[in-house]
Amino acid sequence: MRHFTSVQDLPNLKEALSVAFDVKKNPFAHQHLGKNKTMVMIFFNSSLRTRLSTQKAAMNLGMNTMVLDVNAGAWKLETERGVIMDGDKPEHLLEAIPVIGSYADVIGVRAFAGLTDKKTDYEEKIINQFIQYSGVPVVSMEAATRHPLQSFADLVTIEEHKTKEKPKVVLTWAPHPRALPQAVANSFVEWMRETEYELVVTHPKGYELAPEFMGSVIPEYDQMKAFEGADFIYAKNWSAYNDYGQILSKDMSWCVSERQMAVTDNAKFMHCLPVRRNMIVSDEVIESKNSIVIQEAANRVVSCQAVLKMILEKI
Ligand code: CP
Repeated sequence: MRHFTSVQDLPNLKEALSVAFDVKKNPFAHQHLGKNKTMVMIFFNSSLRTRLSTQKAAMNLGMNTMVLDVNAGAWKLETERGVIMDGDKPEHLLEAIPVIGSYADVIGVRAFAGLTDKKTDYEEKIINQFIQYSGVPVVSMEAATRHPLQSFADLVTIEEHKTKEKPKVVLTWAPHPRALPQAVANSFVEWMRETEYELVVTHPKGYELAPEFMGSVIPEYDQMKAFEGADFIYAKNWSAYNDYGQILSKDMSWCVSERQMAVTDNAKFMHCLPVRRNMIVSDEVIESKNSIVIQEAANRVVSCQAVLKMILEKI
């Protein structure tokens, strides 16, 4: 594997899962792979889990890490070609990328959707430019339309907690005060569709995800019906894809509470974090014994380490 931006980049999902469980059991067994290698992590957006788990994963593999917050301490970057650069952005991404590439053996990039121009976001312009111009492997630390390290960690977590061969996994929209990208939801659906699980996606009308991610999955607009008999509830907010980037509902009845969890089959509760309590999920549910959000976040080290191991083996 050269780059990692989606589940499609993995040579084989089952093998990738086996690598993940191996690195979880033996986190320091492959330190020779990263010796004298540097991972540069570029953040266009904020992060807690991705920043720390990616660094931890790289260090477990013997790599050095360097972190750059583009919007704090670096030159502001122009991302469009053809712009007369007489404004507040003194450096162009097209110079910055190969320069960063000259310092790195692997680059991690976080660049969220702008949510104003669907075409630009869904073309994944920024991460694709890193792939095209850096000369080194690129790992998505959440791009405009996908968050594959998160989805891989989610899959590892479900595999660890499932009590049935084919659990019912429900992705539910939940309210949020601000417009958020569709990346986590897109990615979760994309990864779950690669498994044998029963996948149900529930959201209010208007929040349909892009057809390229949903495939043959039909949304269930009745949240209570979707939750019936569920083994895993994965909550997430996203803004509308069709009315691009818009907030169409703040219906608080979609906040996951004990009312909805009562109709599940003792479901585990999942969320990628950060989560707004009593918007997305009630205090009682996130603090319950069925909440596995911390284990899920811990598995971000595992998914990233598996990905980096597979990349380092090919450098
Ligand atoms: N889940 C996740 O990506 O968290 P951060 O935004 O804190 O990195």
